[in-house]
Amino acid sequence: MTDKITIGVVGAGAMGRGIIQLYAQAGFPVRSFDTQPGAAAKAIDHVAGMLRRSVERGKLTAEALQSIVARMNVAEGLDALSGCGIVIEAIVEDLTIKRDLFRALEAVVASDAILATNTSSLTVSEIAAACARPERVAGLHFFNPVPLMKVAEVVAAVLTAPAVVGTLVSVTEAAGHRAVVTADQPGFLVNHAGRGLYTEGLRIVEEQIASAADVDDVLREGLGFRMGPFELLDLTGLDVSSRVMASIYEQFQQEPRFRPSSLVPPRVAAGLFGRKTGNGWYRYDDGRQIRPEPKPAPAPVSDLKLWVAPDADHAAAFRRLAAQTGAIEVLRPEDADLAIVQPWGQDTTTTSLALGIDPTRCVAVDPLIAFDRRRTLMLTAVTAPAARDAAHALLASDGRAVTIINDSSGFIAQRVIATIVNIATNIVQPGIASVADLEVSVQLGLGYPHGPLAWGDKIGPGRIAAILRAQFEATHDPRYRPTPWLLRRVDLGLPLVTPEAPRC
Ligand SMILES: NC(=O)c1ccc[n+]([C@@H]2O[C@H](COP(=O)([O-])OP(=O)(O)OC[C@H]3O[C@@H](n4cnc5c(N)ncnc54)[C@H](O)[C@@H]3O)[C@@H](O)[C@H]2O)c1
Repeated sequence: MTDKITIGVVGAGAMGRGIIQLYAQAGFPVRSFDTQPGAAAKAIDHVAGMLRRSVERGKLTAEALQSIVARMNVAEGLDALSGCGIVIEAIVEDLTIKRDLFRALEAVVASDAILATNTSSLTVSEIAAACARPERVAGLHFFNPVPLMKVAEVVAAVLTAPAVVGTLVSVTEAAGHRAVVTADQPGFLVNHAGRGLYTEGLRIVEEQIASAADVDDVLREGLGFRMGPFELLDLTGLDVSSRVMASIYEQFQQEPRFRPSSLVPPRVAAGLFGRKTGNGWYRYDDGRQIRPEPKPAPAPVSDLKLWVAPDADHAAAFRRLAAQTGAIEVLRPEDADLAIVQPWGQDTTTTSLALGIDPTRCVAVDPLIAFDRRRTLMLTAVTAPAARDAAHALLASDGRAVTIINDSSGFIAQRVIATIVNIATNIVQPGIASVADLEVSVQLGLGYPHGPLAWGDKIGPGRIAAILRAQFEATHDPRYRPTPWLLRRVDLGLPLVTPEAPRC
């Protein structure tokens, strides 16, 4: 019975503290050990203090608090963990120190006890290899703050016994967290799936398509991300994130999809870490982010001759705005002052030339973003200022925010989403995780509004593949190659969220 297992927690820092609270609250006896004198007791006091506040707010009874406190005990030495059925390690992120600890733990615990590591970046198999019984070792990766981040990754190392994975899933789900199972691969599941937001965001800024603030605004307001990639990088600290980006790229044997940006090292050298140094992608004044002032929209041009591509997704909405601002719709692009196109995947220049439209009078609006949200207006390489301003004025005429960007196949949103979906298919393809675990962990661990494959289905797998292909065509960069897993589903007309086919 998993609810009788005593859980040892080694390391009583930020993560250890949260892990103690999670299991003690769920009814498990917990023993906490830390090499720093007094640290384990301090962690337990901290948890008790948090829970006392819950009692004051009426969210916990005094009796429940008492029994939770009685379940949390300090282990004075490693020996005191001998009766634990599971020991979870949350100590410093250092392979040698973790291996030494696991070796020492094996000498203390019963032969069938499970040893789990909360490592974020080390290979669990390398830690397990220090043990006489590597089959009892697995990863159990929580997110900070543990009680609030309701997902944990159970990492099956190469030699981990399936029963060990099963027990870790049971105890974690008994504690109210969703446990997802992942292979021992770089970034495990959540941090792997979250790569695309950063790599593609950085790439867009590197290519001078848009500023960091523009990318954040479009992804947050246009697509519903809680934070944009640059806001997240500033929060985590670029000193930390740059190491994670480099390490995942190296661990994936320099897979181009994860290639870090050349923009990052000089910024790290200059100390532009983000919030913690008061300067990063944004400046901070007393912790408050200073945002660039939005440019006011120009006044609408009366009698503007407007042509809208017949296949434009938002054609009716453009016509409505045109009618409200006194613009006149013309039937041939050569008669227009302004031509609006809405390409999927393609850039504005290519689209205008393919349709025989004068590129100095052509702009594109991203069809991926719902029309009632922030709009992305993309220029050709030669859009005239008058056409740009007329388009800006038209799109802002009903009060919506507009982001103007330079030409790029896939705008901002299409590029980022297609990259996220492609990486997700590359998690499922080699069996790193199941579709269901991938989808739920990305929502709970990263706070995305949809699972990545469900998002791909919403847009259309064929469109996702087309965006990637266009980007690949434009750059010949292998980071944009669609996975065979994605292409097969496109060819078969299947959605991405499907029960997995049996493997041989
Ligand atoms: N902080 C996060 O956001 C986060 C998220 C997920 C995973 N992790 C991982 O969790 C682990 C712990 O991270 P943290 O942020 O809680 O660190 P932390 O620095 O807050 O705490 C580490 C604790 O471990 C103790 N310690 C160090 N060596 C020890 C040893 N040999 N035996 C016993 N105790 C020892 C330290 O005294 C300290 O109290 C790391 O592996 C980290 O990568 C951290």
